[in-house]
Amino acid sequence: MIYAGILAGGKGTRMGNVPMPKQFLLLNDKPIIVHTIEKFILNDRFEKIIIATPKEWINHTLDILKKYKIDLPNVEVIVGGSDRNGTIMKIVDFIESNNESNTNDVLVTHDAVRPFLTHRIIQQNIDEAIEYGSVDTVIEAIDTIVESEDNEFISSIPRRDHMYQGQTPQSFNINKLKQLYGELTDHEKTILTDACKIFSIKGEKVKLVQGEIFNIKITTPYDLNVANAIIKGSLDK
Ligand code: CTP
Repeated sequence: MIYAGILAGGKGTRMGNVPMPKQFLLLNDKPIIVHTIEKFILNDRFEKIIIATPKEWINHTLDILKKYKIDLPNVEVIVGGSDRNGTIMKIVDFIESNNESNTNDVLVTHDAVRPFLTHRIIQQNIDEAIEYGSVDTVIEAIDTIVESEDNEFISSIPRRDHMYQGQTPQSFNINKLKQLYGELTDHEKTILTDACKIFSIKGEKVKLVQGEIFNIKITTPYDLNVANAIIKGSLDK
């Protein structure tokens, strides 16, 4: 079975002083999270689409699903975790306790605040996760990446043609993800903020899927302006 996990458990602190977590803010008159869920609903390969939000935003999420007529039988809303990987593991636990599990089950995880992903990206995530067990969506690094270990002087400048910027979806064989996450120490859990890193530090191969430059994550008020411009551009075409 193929499952989608929409990660909406964050509070969006970098968005500044707004009345609700950024995933619920309007983008072209529709909550950002609705744009995102609609992309997943259009793909009929998902057994279930599981949305994880902060506890106090569950009812609001259920209300907007109704309002935008996406309160479908295969869409579930659950409480997320205290960090991003914690939210992913809550989704994994939900899948395991409500469905017969199979060694080939795949979870496509996606940031609720990346509303511009495409059907092609979703399809490739599913196909490559079935084949390789873990997938990251990336774009080639645009700027040169400069590393500074002391945050004062350059420690290295990696070759740009080997550098990528991580996006989502990130997709995993569910059994493998659970196994590897279970092997982490509490300290590792706090520093491994990227789910693909759980695979790579354990020596597992993570397949790359080509993202899109417009598959942006809405993090700051500036990003919301950019997202509105992207939507407007696509409507003008
Ligand atoms: N996320 C989540 N559960 C958490 C934390 C984050 O599902 N405990 C989700 C966010 O809702 C978001 C995605 O992970 O869709 C990307 O994270 P980020 O942009 O960092 O979101 P926030 O944590 O909400 O933002 P901030 O760091 O500004 O507080």
